[in-house]
Amino acid sequence: DRSLKIAPSILAADFANFGAEIQAVEAQGADWIHVDVMDGHFVPNLTFGPAMCAAIRPHIKTVMDVHLMIAPVDPYIDAFAAAGADIITAHVEAGPHIHRTLQAIRGAGCKAGIALNPGTPAEAVAPLLDMIDMVCVMTVNPGFGGQKFIHACVDKVRALRAMIGDREIHIEIDGGVDPMTAPLVRAAGADVLVAGSAAFKGGSVSNPAPYGDNIRAIRTAAES
Ligand code: DX5
Ligand code: ZN
Repeated sequence: DRSLKIAPSILAADFANFGAEIQAVEAQGADWIHVDVMDGHFVPNLTFGPAMCAAIRPHIKTVMDVHLMIAPVDPYIDAFAAAGADIITAHVEAGPHIHRTLQAIRGAGCKAGIALNPGTPAEAVAPLLDMIDMVCVMTVNPGFGGQKFIHACVDKVRALRAMIGDREIHIEIDGGVDPMTAPLVRAAGADVLVAGSAAFKGGSVSNPAPYGDNIRAIRTAAES
């Protein structure tokens, strides 16, 4: 399914109100919910772990898309699967055994994603095509929301689209997606667009209409 999916990242939501934020953004048109897990080691920031994922799971009606920016990954896969992740994405840079990690994610009953930092080439995915359900192309250096989109990553999206061919593998874009950058990555072959700051800006749980405006603006731009 290569239809366009907008996945707001709760990294840009009110951390004291995740349940209500998720309900609001889904009511305003979110297709998936993107959940950024950071360990202060693989990336220079900390967010939350499996207990938070389990707590928000009942509020998510759509797809819970868990992006693990942690190293090591393998000791935590079962915990995120038990927390209700639909997709677990691990970074190819997070350890020497991405193949084993992807096996473990599928073995835990989840869809498996592989994320590539801006400095990692598309070719890193080639040996793993039979083991993944999604490639996440980082278009910022992971760790923080609100950074500037790295345009050099668009060619990588195009290369991945060609490499994937007819396989059922999503291409997700994460970082700096807004109505200006969304059409570039959509045209290059992406189908899942993560949006943190661009999805949540101007709104709140008590004033959720801007979430809908923001999501529609990204979707309209990407589909034009
Ligand atoms: C970055 C995270 C992203 C982040 C995107 O490390 O993986 O998901 O929330 O935020 P924006 O859309 O603000 O760049
Ligand atoms: Zn992310």
